[in-house]
Amino acid sequence: MCGIVGYIGHRDAYPIIIKGLERLEYRGYDSAGIVLFDGKDTNLAKTKGKVEDLKNKSNTTISIDGKLGLGHTRWATHGVPNDVNSHPHYSNSGDLVIIHNGIIENYESIKKALIKRGYVFHSDTDTEVLVNLIEEVKKQEGVKLGKAVQIALNQVVGAYAIAVFDKNKSDEIVVARLGSPLAIGIGENEYFIASDASPFIEFTNNAVYLEDEEMAIVRLGKEIKLRKIKDDAIAYPNILELQMNLEEIEKGGYDHFMLKEIYEQPRAILDTYRGRLLADQGLIKMAGIDQNLEKFLNANRIIIVACGTSWHAGLVAEYIFEDLARIPVEVEYASEFRYRNPVITENDVLIAISQSGETADTLAAIKMAKERGAFVFGVCNVVGSSIARETDAGAYTHAGPEIGVASTKAFTTQITVLTLIALKLAKEKGSISESKYHEFLVELEGIPAKVEKTLASNALLEDIAEVYKDSSNCLYLGRGYNFPVALEGALKLKEISYIHAEGYPAAEMKHGPIALIDEEMPVVVIATRRGHYEKVVSNIQEIKSRSGKIIAVVTEGDVQVTELADHVVEVPETSEPLTPLLTTIPLQLLSYHIALMRGCNVDQPRNLAKSVTVE
Ligand code: G6P
Repeated sequence: MCGIVGYIGHRDAYPIIIKGLERLEYRGYDSAGIVLFDGKDTNLAKTKGKVEDLKNKSNTTISIDGKLGLGHTRWATHGVPNDVNSHPHYSNSGDLVIIHNGIIENYESIKKALIKRGYVFHSDTDTEVLVNLIEEVKKQEGVKLGKAVQIALNQVVGAYAIAVFDKNKSDEIVVARLGSPLAIGIGENEYFIASDASPFIEFTNNAVYLEDEEMAIVRLGKEIKLRKIKDDAIAYPNILELQMNLEEIEKGGYDHFMLKEIYEQPRAILDTYRGRLLADQGLIKMAGIDQNLEKFLNANRIIIVACGTSWHAGLVAEYIFEDLARIPVEVEYASEFRYRNPVITENDVLIAISQSGETADTLAAIKMAKERGAFVFGVCNVVGSSIARETDAGAYTHAGPEIGVASTKAFTTQITVLTLIALKLAKEKGSISESKYHEFLVELEGIPAKVEKTLASNALLEDIAEVYKDSSNCLYLGRGYNFPVALEGALKLKEISYIHAEGYPAAEMKHGPIALIDEEMPVVVIATRRGHYEKVVSNIQEIKSRSGKIIAVVTEGDVQVTELADHVVEVPETSEPLTPLLTTIPLQLLSYHIALMRGCNVDQPRNLAKSVTVE
């Protein structure tokens, strides 16, 4: 987490850094800071709060026009969010300035050693320790900044993406990465540094993504030179041409990114299957699967690892893979999997699902599975992300940038990719009939239009939100394919509205949550016609007889549940495995409206971050 941005070139750095920080705010937003350097002096502004607060503060504290600058938006790990702990941090001499995304795990022992040598610390951060370690190495070894950074990084344990400059060297910024992303944008005699490409997309389409354990000296007038931090070996930069455009990372007339991204889903799902799903030819073409078909077909089992919403997509995939392709599937929280010494064999296929492609736990789970011989496949949204690079093969979701912290279009596009894979494997294995397979292809092709239709219930959901906006608890129930949707609906509500919400398999309600039901308790039930309908109707009866308030998501034309429920939201009919792509939509909209009515920051909920690069 944390977003870092830097600039060196011929333009004023301030507006570039500020705009860049605004675009990176999804990575953390409890404090922010900026430093400018005009070749002689530096000016620093930092504050608890958002980039907006930083802008106000820098009105009074920044008085120079620097052509070199660094900025940081923070998600606190070491040290509470306050002005002092915000980045950038100076070294004791005031010569070195650093921004850092990550955690230095052995900072305490280094700090003690530095204190013994007379260093003074002003903040509680691990980052201030790192910049002083670099300073100490530079002094002791009599080396330049780049070398000092390299030696210092070989002494630290942890994760980092850093950018650091020396006031005595106005034409360079030194950057390095291990475990946290770092991109360098290459312009005409100017360079941009950022956690992702969004801060510099209007200036250049050319970028280099640092690999783990790489560093670079970004020097004006010189080409980028990459080095391995461990042994100084030269690495050759792979300059990528970025596909992202400015429109994709702006709100485009919507009040919030979350709403924009909810409404983008018909297009996003279509982009996900475009060129892959060829219904008229009865084909699914996916290079990552085609080239590794034997691995999948001979797999003992598929292990899915992910976190958060991506984990919920993994649960939906478990139902689809087992149901259609008849391959055993286990779905694991990456954070548990990586530490529990799981049995992994060479005949296992591990699928890692991640929107950002940077989640630290998922990345660690991948590395462990690879070491133990499994074939690792990634389902990521962010092109060129760490997980996309670390996996043996993969499929992008092509959802476009997702900026709202609460994941929406990433979820439905992940399910789309996983459905395509399951269908393809089912066809290859012969575990599905030809006619069923064709029906699925046609039905999946029609999903964007059905999502569009489902979005038309927005006004109804706003009305329902008005009724329940002051609730303190909410229960979400679903069965089969829609059990993970219940989990996802509950997660959406709690993360953006701060209402306590739980998702449960509908039948499990009687083993605990039923005790919570009274006339104050809204219960969202997914009761589509194709998913154990009669059983869910019985569950609804149980809620009703205890006076719970029922908000039901039903199939168009439903009669039975409609008579029982307090509120009904309809989704179009589709085959059961595809229902999550529709039933998720009303739950996203309900959470959005409730959060908005409660005055919550929908796009940047408290304490959360979009890209979790710490474990
Ligand atoms: C964070 C985000 C969630 C996301 C999860 C996993 O918690 O706030 O929206 O689902 O990380 O992220 P990933 O990028 O791996 O899908």
